[in-house]
Amino acid sequence: MPEITIAPARGLHGAVTPPGDKSISHRCAMLAALAEGRSTLSHYSAGADCHSTLACLRALGVAIEAKDDGTVAIAGAGLRGLRPPDTALDAGNSGTTLRLLSGILAAQPFAGAIGGDASLSRRPMRRILEPLGRMGARIAAAPGDTPPLRFTPAPGGLHGIAYAPPVASAQVKSAILLAGLYARGETRVREALPTRDHTELLLRHLGAPLERPGQGETVLHGPVEKLRPLENYRVPGDPSAAAFFLCAAAAMPEAELTVEEVSLNPGRAALLDVLARLGARAQVLALEERAGELAGSLRLTGPSQGLGGAAIEGTEAVALIDEAPILAVLATRTRDGIEFRGMAELRVKESDRIAAIAQNLRAMGAVCEERADGMFVPGGQKLRGARLRSGHDHRIAMAFAIAALWAEGESVIEDAECAAISYPAFYADLARLARR
Ligand code: S3P
Repeated sequence: MPEITIAPARGLHGAVTPPGDKSISHRCAMLAALAEGRSTLSHYSAGADCHSTLACLRALGVAIEAKDDGTVAIAGAGLRGLRPPDTALDAGNSGTTLRLLSGILAAQPFAGAIGGDASLSRRPMRRILEPLGRMGARIAAAPGDTPPLRFTPAPGGLHGIAYAPPVASAQVKSAILLAGLYARGETRVREALPTRDHTELLLRHLGAPLERPGQGETVLHGPVEKLRPLENYRVPGDPSAAAFFLCAAAAMPEAELTVEEVSLNPGRAALLDVLARLGARAQVLALEERAGELAGSLRLTGPSQGLGGAAIEGTEAVALIDEAPILAVLATRTRDGIEFRGMAELRVKESDRIAAIAQNLRAMGAVCEERADGMFVPGGQKLRGARLRSGHDHRIAMAFAIAALWAEGESVIEDAECAAISYPAFYADLARLARR
């Protein structure tokens, strides 16, 4: 499917179960691989990124059975049971795979390397090289501190550090904590703005001596002897995938949408606050805890009045970094628009997302004021059908597929298949939910 044509829709109706959360799936697979014993997961993310993680773990000697229905069985190799890979690991398009596995590779008593596709090969790695290097790791990067990364064993092993990451990044925090499993002494990470905490919740659930003494602070006491396996764990749905349909429904008066078993981890639920501020309230239907993570179902009906406006910055800017493309598209349907600040990270995602959003909104006849660390998308803008470029970025493809529902005339999304990086069933779910 190199490109897809999308016609406008009047409404959005029905129920959707988003794919298993991408961030949680990566972490479950990696920690299950390091645990003692067999882990059994279900609703593992169907996205290509999480399958890149499984392929890398297999290359490190971990026995994994993954079925098409999302069940994954992992025979834990133990913290000290990984085997040297024959070739460089391939993280594909996945920054999370590469950065988190780097924390593990840095601590191994064997050499290894990890790289990825053209997009991943451009992404900045200084942010992990710096703290892992301070822990004693030996890592060589390509020019500009980009992948591939090559690891040689740390003479004398790793030691703990106290570190305050200069960029708000759960990937950086997680790489440090994973290396901290092997480090002598205390590994302490202090975050100025909180990032998603799936690594911390899961490490604790699997028996690692991890504390969270204060706001934004995590301490792991290493080296850790062993981790328990993760038995019968069902991964909650991905809120960043659900966001496309929640925002679509929020902008369509004739919408009635139920999202089943989605992660409601407070660090991932900021979209619901922004939608409520705009005037679209999602109702939580059921809530349960799964290994420290919250999951539940949501119901959203199209707003009776128009949407207002919002500013997203600070903690919300960090929490909504993956939702920015769809929120920028939604902004055109509000009255006052949405201002995005403190989101310079958008420029170093799978693509420069600020540039990609601005370019595609312009193609649809809309305005987007670009800034170095964000953008302002005015409200009350009519969209016209257009040829839209995903730039091989899954979240851009899906955000503009939703924009196409509201446009006058048909739109074509180029390189639409990249949605499969995180949500292979996206276009099928869209076709099922859209009312024309
Ligand atoms: C992720 C963290 C975020 C996010 C990415 C997944 C994770 O990246 O954008 O999609 O699973 O830790 P950063 O840590 O670079 O902000």
